[in-house]
Amino acid sequence: MTHILAIDQGTTSSRAIVFDGDIRPIASAQLEFEQHFPNSGWVEHDPADIWVTTVETCSGALARAKIAAKDVDAIGITNQRETTLVWNRHTGEPVHNAIVWQDRRTAEICDALKAAGHAELVQSITGLLLDPYFSGTKVKWILDHVEGARAAADAGDLLFGTVDCYLIWKLTGGKVHATDATNAARTLIYDIHKGQWSPDICALLGIPMAMLPEVKDCAADFGATDPDIFGAAIPIRGVAGDQQAATIGQACFEAGMLKSTYGTGCFALLNTGDTPVTSHNRLLTTIAYQLDGKPTYALEGAIFIAGAVVQWLRDGLGIIEGAAETAALADAADPAQELILVPAFTGLGAPYWNPQARGAVFGLTRGSGPKEFSRAALESVGFQTRDLLDAMQADYAGTGDTVLRVDGGMSASDWAMQFLSDILGAPVDRPVVAESTAKGAAWLAGMQIGVYPDMAGFAATWEKECQFVPQRDDGWRESRYAGWKKAIDATLSMTE
Ligand code: G3P
Repeated sequence: MTHILAIDQGTTSSRAIVFDGDIRPIASAQLEFEQHFPNSGWVEHDPADIWVTTVETCSGALARAKIAAKDVDAIGITNQRETTLVWNRHTGEPVHNAIVWQDRRTAEICDALKAAGHAELVQSITGLLLDPYFSGTKVKWILDHVEGARAAADAGDLLFGTVDCYLIWKLTGGKVHATDATNAARTLIYDIHKGQWSPDICALLGIPMAMLPEVKDCAADFGATDPDIFGAAIPIRGVAGDQQAATIGQACFEAGMLKSTYGTGCFALLNTGDTPVTSHNRLLTTIAYQLDGKPTYALEGAIFIAGAVVQWLRDGLGIIEGAAETAALADAADPAQELILVPAFTGLGAPYWNPQARGAVFGLTRGSGPKEFSRAALESVGFQTRDLLDAMQADYAGTGDTVLRVDGGMSASDWAMQFLSDILGAPVDRPVVAESTAKGAAWLAGMQIGVYPDMAGFAATWEKECQFVPQRDDGWRESRYAGWKKAIDATLSMTE
């Protein structure tokens, strides 16, 4: 019996899912962990929480699948990307909390680099923009602010890693310091064209290259787990950042194929094949996956707040008890009110990239209440996706008849997905297996050890659960979208 264990270490929770020989999920476990907000715009994770919840969910998933570690053929890891850890190579102790991708503390470092004229160089080498989102400036911040860190890094005592890399290091008992090309591509210090760390950008940020992990393919030998952890040495054979793993899990293997994942944020990736397309519309050029030494590139649009806007309705405003209520509330909203919510709670990502922007609501009346807020929240996700897809169309000719494949928690909302299709004026496909991210990681590991099919065989297993098609006309679509664009302009103007 084949069993592949997928670890999905995300922003708000760690999950582990056991897949069977047919790449079907058979058991899972999930644990949320604490978010730390030590300052306005700062977001941190305790590395111990990342580690402990990962180990516990793995053990929990194995227990639920009624198997032991020795029955697991391989592990695939997928993870929140860009989140930055620095630890001591001798003691294993992190020198600081993990600085999370959402953290905006390095906005000034990015501004200074832009003012010094480095934006073009950074984009041409890494495919990324100078935004606090990425790891590079977070590493610089740690080395500049943690007492003794720079000297220790210069002496070769510190290691840097994204979450995948930290987990590999911990799981292998400190034997392997490695990452994969998709995670490396999110660090701001990786040359996505040459497939190696960029000495120029490391010098610019003052990051000693001895801190950096080895970069491997997504399906490769990442070592094996220390038997003391689970009771057996399980080979780690697949690694990809979560959005790239979802792209793989959605079988977007051909140039022009497109997926969008709705978790905390929303991340749309368009496969551009062998060609790294330089964006002129403030999208990111990134690596979708790398197999047999060959990178396949993607254009990516990243939105920071998607599902999190519904959490805000629940936890911030206290106007709903659960996400499932939003559809009925949105349906009952007053059609005469055009409330627009710009959820720029942590700045705006693609295609605006403004870390200073903050959320705004337009069109409030005395009659605006939970129903109108719920509708505006769900619609904000559709509007933001339209922003991304318009930018993709402008950057890449091959998006003509593309159908958007969706996944992630919020894709379960029929209301949100119907609005998405309406505002895009294009079909939206939802797959049977919504666990695209974990499935992608599992496939990488299972394919690498030869128990899962090759790419074409895997793509053939992708199944559509339903398709949403536009039910509104162009007049409605363009007028609603124009309202959103005005709201965005007004939100951005507040930062001037
Ligand atoms: O780039 C950040 C992304 O990888 C985080 O994803 O699902 O943990 O919110 P998620």
